[in-house]
Amino acid sequence: MSITYKSAEEVQGMRTAGRLASEVLDHLTGHIKPGITTKEIDRLAADFMKKQGTTSATLGYQPAGYPPYPASLCTSVNHVVCHGIPNDKPLKKGDILNVDVTVIKDGYFGDTSRMFMIGDVSIAAKRLVTLTYEAMWHGIVKVRPGIHLGDIGWAIQKFAESHGFSVVREFCGHGIGRNFHEEPQVLHYGKPGTLEELKPGMTFTIEPMINAGRRDVKEWGNDGWTIVTKDHSLSAQWEHTVLVTETGYEVLTLSAGSPPPPAFVPAQ
Ligand code: MF3
Ligand code: CO
Ligand code: CO
Repeated sequence: MSITYKSAEEVQGMRTAGRLASEVLDHLTGHIKPGITTKEIDRLAADFMKKQGTTSATLGYQPAGYPPYPASLCTSVNHVVCHGIPNDKPLKKGDILNVDVTVIKDGYFGDTSRMFMIGDVSIAAKRLVTLTYEAMWHGIVKVRPGIHLGDIGWAIQKFAESHGFSVVREFCGHGIGRNFHEEPQVLHYGKPGTLEELKPGMTFTIEPMINAGRRDVKEWGNDGWTIVTKDHSLSAQWEHTVLVTETGYEVLTLSAGSPPPPAFVPAQ
């Protein structure tokens, strides 16, 4: 498989799928508070997707070597880095939670995730959540024709490490379109000027996983999916799907409830 460059019509399909994925997160936002379980969040999302006329890309998803993923979204709490499976444990004050939603609409995929802080969280946790959001945007603002994927990775890594955090290496962003995961891989670390050159029509995700402690991760338990930090430190992640335009970027996974970009992002 190689990189697919989307036509105007395909971009329109991606815009719709992206907005719908983000609207699932909007819908969940009011429900995410102490006492709710991640399974209940999954159920709310599944019901909402039905109303939207979308299907979950994660339910039953089975890349080579994995068991089928059993839920309509991923819920990663505290030291869970990614791919957490919804369960019956209630969220409690002080937890931080990533909810990662991928929907399919008319054959197109939209993939986005946000962090949620449950009640009051520690200053350290809040800082990790905020700075990880900024790290994602430091990558997004680089996007335009002529730059290289390494420029995105470098921008994210430099920002995260300058604040004493570390970047997870084992998982990356990805091309997306009529497939959930396509080329290219979008690393969240790297060197300026290296890797693939960006061209108009590329669509891919930027989804840095940033750890408060060391970057090392491991598989948790035996569910075949859940990834945690080796040192048990907190981990955060945000994700958008973006399009390379003729002059810059367009974020495809925006909706009414999306948090505003950080102040350093120039108005488009
Ligand atoms: N949405 C995740 C991503 O950003 C992938 C989740 S795969 C799953 O690429 F099977 F764990 F849901
Ligand atoms: Co995702
Ligand atoms: Co993704």
